[in-house]
This record gives sequence, C-alpha cells and structure tokens, in this order.
Amino acid sequence: MSMTLNTDYKFPDGFMFGASTAAYQIEGAWNEDGKGENIWDRIAHFHSKLIQDSENGDIACDSYHKYKEDVALAKDLNLNFYRFSISWTRIAPTGEMHKLNPKGIDYYNRLIDELLANNIEPLVTMYHWDLPQYLQDLGGWVNPIMVDYFKEYAKVLFSNFGDRVKWWITLNEPLQMCKGYSISSYAPFLNLRNTGHYLAGHYQLLAHGKVYRLYDEIFREKQKGNISIALNTVFFLPKNKESEEDRETAERANQFERGWFSHPIYKGDYPPVMREWVDKKCKSEGRPWSTLPTFSEEEIKLLKGTADFYSINHYSTRLTTHGYDQNPVFNPDGEYKTSIEKSWPVSAAPWLIVAPEGLYELLVWIKKEYDNPPVIITENGYADDGRLNDLERIDYIKSHLNVTLKAINEDKCDIIGYTIWSLLDNFEWTDGYRYHFGIVSVDFNNPRRPRVPKASYQYFKKIVTTKKLNV
Ligand code: NOJ
Repeated sequence: MSMTLNTDYKFPDGFMFGASTAAYQIEGAWNEDGKGENIWDRIAHFHSKLIQDSENGDIACDSYHKYKEDVALAKDLNLNFYRFSISWTRIAPTGEMHKLNPKGIDYYNRLIDELLANNIEPLVTMYHWDLPQYLQDLGGWVNPIMVDYFKEYAKVLFSNFGDRVKWWITLNEPLQMCKGYSISSYAPFLNLRNTGHYLAGHYQLLAHGKVYRLYDEIFREKQKGNISIALNTVFFLPKNKESEEDRETAERANQFERGWFSHPIYKGDYPPVMREWVDKKCKSEGRPWSTLPTFSEEEIKLLKGTADFYSINHYSTRLTTHGYDQNPVFNPDGEYKTSIEKSWPVSAAPWLIVAPEGLYELLVWIKKEYDNPPVIITENGYADDGRLNDLERIDYIKSHLNVTLKAINEDKCDIIGYTIWSLLDNFEWTDGYRYHFGIVSVDFNNPRRPRVPKASYQYFKKIVTTKKLNV
C-alpha cells in the first residue's frame, strides 16, 4: 500500500480526539479510602513472579492523587474526551453492590467534574480487567452469576455518573480477558484450555447485553448516552493474497477473534464459521458437547443491536495461513497460523508490529461486515523504551491517522473518533513498567511521579488542534 500522506484530507466536523488510560494501570492507591482487593492486586502481591521485575500497580502513576494534573494535560492537548476506567472495588470493595464505598464514588465524581469543568467529555470503561477478587473466588467470568453482578454494578454507575457521562464502554477487550481463562497470560491466570475462554466470552457477552438493555429500560431516555464494548482487533491478512485458502483462513481468524464478540451484537449469534469449526473439532475429539456455548433464542434477541458505536482497540496486524501458531496456542480451533512481513518494523514490545495497512483494511472490513456503523478507535499506540524524543511514536501515530483519513475520505467509513493509548506511561500488565506507551513520560523512580510531555505529545496536540494531519 502506498503511504502517501493525506495532508489535504481533514477530519470531519465533530470528529473527536481523546487519550486513554485504565484504573489499575494508573491510579495506584490500591488499598486507600476503602478500596477492596481485585485480581491484579492479588496476582501482584502473591504471585509477583508472573509480572516482569515483580512490579505492581500499587502506586503506578498515582493518578488517584494526581488526577487534576492528568486532566490539565488533557486540557492542554485540547482533547475532546478522556477515556478512563472505573475500578470496581473502589466502588464496592467485594464487588457486591449492597456494600458501596462512598469515597470511591466520590473520587470518580471529582474526576468527572474536573473533566467537564475543562470541557472534556468523559468516556468511561466500566470494567478494564480488574475483577473484584471476591467475585473471582466465586468463579469469575466462567460463572453465569457474573452477568447479574455486572448488571448491578452498571446500575450503580449509571445512577451515580450517568447524568454527566454520555459515552460508556461496558467491557474492555473481552478476548484478552478470555486469555486469563485459557493460556494464563492475564489475571486470573487460570489454565482452562479449550473450555474456559469460551465460557468467559459467553458470560461477558451476556453481561454486556444485559447492561445495554438496562440502560434502555431505565436510563437512556433521560441520560441520552452511548454504549459499546471495546474489542481488541489484530487484523488478519492472507499471507498470500492469491491463495484462496489463505484468504479464507484470514477471514476465519477475523471471525474467531473479532466476530466472536461483534457478530452476536451486530448480526445475532456467534459467527457461523466459528460455530462450524468449534463444533466439528469437539465432535472429532469425542466430546459430548461443543465447548462453544449456545445462545437461546431469547439471548440472541437480547444481544442483537447492543452497540451504539463500534469500539476498536487496534495496534497490530498479522499475515495468516492455515495451521497452528507456536505455543501458547490461544485458540487452536480456528486453525490459523500467523506471521509478519519482513519489512514491518517491530516496536519495543515484540507483539506490536507496525503495519498501518492493517488498520485501513480493518476499517473497511467493519464497514462492509456491519453496514458502516459509527466507529471510535478507542485505543491505538506504540511501545518504546521511554525516550522523550519519541520519533517512532510520532511516525506510528502519523501513519495510523493517515490510513484513518483515507478510510473516511475515500471509502466513506463512518469513523467518529480516535484515542491515543496512552496519555501516560503506565503499568503494562505482565510486562510491568518495561514498555512505555505514554505521550507523557512518568518517572516511576520518583515518589512524586512527575509527568513530562514527550515529542509525540506536541505532535498529537497539533493534530488535535488543527484537525489535520501534519507532516
Ligand atoms: C490494550 C489494553 O486495553 C491496555 O490495557 C493495554 O495497556 C494496551 N492494550 C497496550 O498493550
């Protein structure tokens, strides 16, 4: 794909720019003001070897105390919105909603009010992987009871914040979450290969659907907000475009990793190819039932039409051919093997390979597959070693916004917003503080956690302000 810069194209009127963070990755204050223990607190404190350098999010960027500084940065950047997540155990220490923590609610009220006072819309993720440990002990996402726990939690969020929050994301990256129930790469680190991930995905989907319907029933008329679910979206391209088998395999991979969650929401039920391949595999293994659960007719109806915009977190792309990846194989049922083009640069994080053409193809794929829904890129960003003169990050942002402009202007894709991950360098889950994603650097060796804008901050600010891609 030619990478001519689309400098004549402008982002459409009303296009929104934002920056994103998540509670466990930035807040710190892990046990302050009544906050309860979540699954990342548990892993970091009792199984710290699972995390690079045995790091944790106990203090992280200390945003619980320094949120006004974060908002001031967002304001200086001229951002239209700021995406953050709510820590469930700050709102309710065990996750059960009959025991609320007023100080936790107060914290998010202050953050939301500070944003609005600075003319920045809050875009709020209800759940960004930090499940209350108590609910995990009940089984977490493989227990159907989670659907109702999540609904009750959402009710408290709508009731307390919905008068001011108009953009909601129920769950962040359910697919990644499922890896915690399959190949143990995220908390709760359960090795329930073959079954755990499908169950966790199933109940996350139903939880999302119930929350959407709850909003319809009780809150939407008055609060007039928008709800979606943020999907992580590696795009799978055929390794050899001329090969029909590779094209089919790439499409199957796209359905297994993205259609898994958005087919039930946009079209009803799991993607037919997923149903077929998982059922076939289970039969050949002599299992008495398929590991991919079945939705009832009522559940299909519940889920269909439960997104007001399509929310994508996109970082990278893979080439695809029939076969199996090397260990750990997250989902062998789809039989796809991935590789990369030699010319694609690799960031500091080995999984983050730079191929903006994948974002372009993804945006066009979403338009075709789901009838051109409004799309917000709710995460996109680059990992490096933390340098202030972060020229590779600038290139990454530039090339990804460039293809976004092409998709908007030439393909008429309805893309309404772009969010950089992340406002701040932060705790990158099992990679600890090894990789830096922020456009603002944070000194984690300094107890005051000073923030210093990087070169990419200035670059991004110019784009946000002019609504044009700068050379
Ligand atoms: C997606 C996740 O939502 C976020 O928590 C993570 O830090 C980024 N990807 C970068 O890996």
